Amino acid sequence: MAEISSETRFLHAIEMGLGAWQWGDRVVWQYGHGYGLEQVREAFQTSIREGIRFIDTAELYGNGLSERLLGRFLKETDQPALIASKYFPLPWRFGKGAILRALKGSLARLGVEGIDLYQIHWPSPIMSTDTMMEGLADCVKGGLTRTVGVSNFDQSRMLAAYSSLARYNVPLASNQVPYSLLNRTVEKNGTLARCKELGIRLIAHSPLEKGLLTGKYRADTPPPGARARTYAGLLPKTEPLLKLMTEIGQDHGGKSNAQVALNWLICKGTLPIPGAKTAEQAQENAGALGWKLTGEEVAKLDEASRAILGS
Ligand SMILES: NC(=O)c1ccc[n+]([C@@H]2O[C@H](COP(=O)([O-])OP(=O)(O)OC[C@H]3O[C@@H](n4cnc5c(N)ncnc54)[C@H](OP(=O)(O)O)[C@@H]3O)[C@@H](O)[C@H]2O)c1
Repeated sequence: MAEISSETRFLHAIEMGLGAWQWGDRVVWQYGHGYGLEQVREAFQTSIREGIRFIDTAELYGNGLSERLLGRFLKETDQPALIASKYFPLPWRFGKGAILRALKGSLARLGVEGIDLYQIHWPSPIMSTDTMMEGLADCVKGGLTRTVGVSNFDQSRMLAAYSSLARYNVPLASNQVPYSLLNRTVEKNGTLARCKELGIRLIAHSPLEKGLLTGKYRADTPPPGARARTYAGLLPKTEPLLKLMTEIGQDHGGKSNAQVALNWLICKGTLPIPGAKTAEQAQENAGALGWKLTGEEVAKLDEASRAILGS
């Protein structure tokens, strides 16, 4: 494994974070239906109380509302928090200057002078990786973000970003990608191994597979909205894995399926950022910390998930 640069070391010390896509998003998460400002404020406060200090948002989430809500909650607490946000490479925003301008917009919504991690949300078919990395390097040099990362970059794009940033003497801090017991693409395509080799923190998004791994959604009780369609094929297959997770959780004093799912990701050397809509969800997710699955349990979970995903 490569030596981790001093600038990005803090990210490797964080075991788990909190995702804030749910805060303000109506399209996928139906913010305003069944939960709203008070609930997400409590999710934030509970996480902070439980020692979870790394919060992931994006300019895109709720069209800026997630960042505005987070900014509001940060003002209401005297506790420190580490903030990650993202630039979305919309096709009409080209030129490296767009990235610095977008970050300034994020900072204004968050009400802070700088953040800890600024990420490119998706690779762009229009803006080259070199141009995007030059834009990110300017954000670091301008003191607006401590570190920079990418998201949803495959291995070759990630390596291009890594080399490009190196020209500006800026380390690539992280790659935020989907990773869970029900999505192990990053293991198969080598991204996880390459991240470890280069000292890039792999941030696991959708670590609960959008709620499926909590066990509350089954084939006969599918999730609401768009998730029902996305997971129609997967839901009928999850039962044996969920059962094993419950059994393993029992052996650790009654840990829930969500806690087992998150602990598995921590055991894989990654940083999961589960999204939480309420205090209850945040509280439960925080219970993934402070204990560890055994190597044998991880291997059993690997096997059960492989039986669903194939290969
Ligand atoms: N970079 C990217 O492209 C990208 C993409 C996706 C996500 N993300 C980031 O990753 C974060 C997490 O991913 P995600 O939001 O897709 O999915 P997730 O964390 O896998 O699932 C979150 C959802 O699961 C349910 N849930 C969470 N904790 C629970 C608990 N303890 N018990 C029962 N249900 C629980 C909630 O939805 P219900 O109550 O409605 O079931 C919640 O909205 C996001 O907030 C975002 O910051 C990034």
